[in-house]
Amino acid sequence: MSLSYRQPPNRWELRPGEIHVCAVALAASPVCIAKLEGVLSPEERQRARRFRTAELTQAFVAGRGILRTILGGCLHLPPSDVPLEYGERGKPRIRGGGRLRFNLSHSGGQALYALAVDCEVGVDLERIRPMPDCESIAERFFSAAEQRDLRSAPPRQREAAFFTCWTRKEAYIKAVGDGLSLPLDSFRVSLLPSEPPTLDARGDSQEWSLFDVSPGQSYAAALVAEGPRTEVRGWAFGDAGDCTAYFG
Ligand SMILES: CC(C)(COP(=O)(O)OP(=O)(O)OC[C@H]1O[C@@H](n2cnc3c(N)ncnc32)[C@H](O)[C@@H]1OP(=O)(O)O)[C@@H](O)C(=O)NCCC(=O)NCCS
Repeated sequence: MSLSYRQPPNRWELRPGEIHVCAVALAASPVCIAKLEGVLSPEERQRARRFRTAELTQAFVAGRGILRTILGGCLHLPPSDVPLEYGERGKPRIRGGGRLRFNLSHSGGQALYALAVDCEVGVDLERIRPMPDCESIAERFFSAAEQRDLRSAPPRQREAAFFTCWTRKEAYIKAVGDGLSLPLDSFRVSLLPSEPPTLDARGDSQEWSLFDVSPGQSYAAALVAEGPRTEVRGWAFGDAGDCTAYFG
């Protein structure tokens, strides 16, 4: 069953043993975008300028500004002071260690932010869209068992099954932090709507749990977290302004 997203509580608290997922629409007024741009680091502002279109620049500014605002709320720091750095393969993290872990994903104007204490997380979101070549993409990236499962899905459900598989695989590689250097056919996820979310990564000595965290019917989304099953809570924010007002 997919996660249900609720209104955030009056007083927000992240405890060990819980994972919180914030769903935020990246839409933002020009005033809000200017405010979010103001919390970015000089390197992030430079990166924002390198995107090909104004939409992509705006999505990055909103996504990164919201990330800084949420993390600032967790760490009791101004968003611009959140010390972000990157792991060897690009996974963002808080410099200096600490117990807070996070990951994010955005697609189709929507973003998901996963937060946890002492527990690595990876999250991936994709808007479900027509994908006529999904079987040939699956041949390139999915394991043989996943390709078989995809072919067995009823044609009407094939695209949703494809994105379910894609996001589950991405969430795992993002949790591990290895990016695409981890062979995508070295582990298996379930993808059929009739089956619960499962992840079989036998070669990995670490235990991981997989959750369906779709924020709506037109999205596939997955969360992978370190350790045995944990409590996952979902919070919905209307747009960037709502989220920054809450955490800021
Ligand atoms: C970068 C990657 C981790 C995810 O990229 P994506 O799905 O295009 O983008 P998402 O929106 O889901 O995630 C982007 C965020 O992941 C984070 N990220 C980057 N590298 C990461 C890593 N190694 N581990 C975890 N998170 C990472 C970043 O914070 C990034 O946010 P930013 O762009 O605002 O900095 C990587 O897996 C990738 O390039 N995937 C390409 C798609 C592909 O071929 N997938 C095959 C799946 S079957």
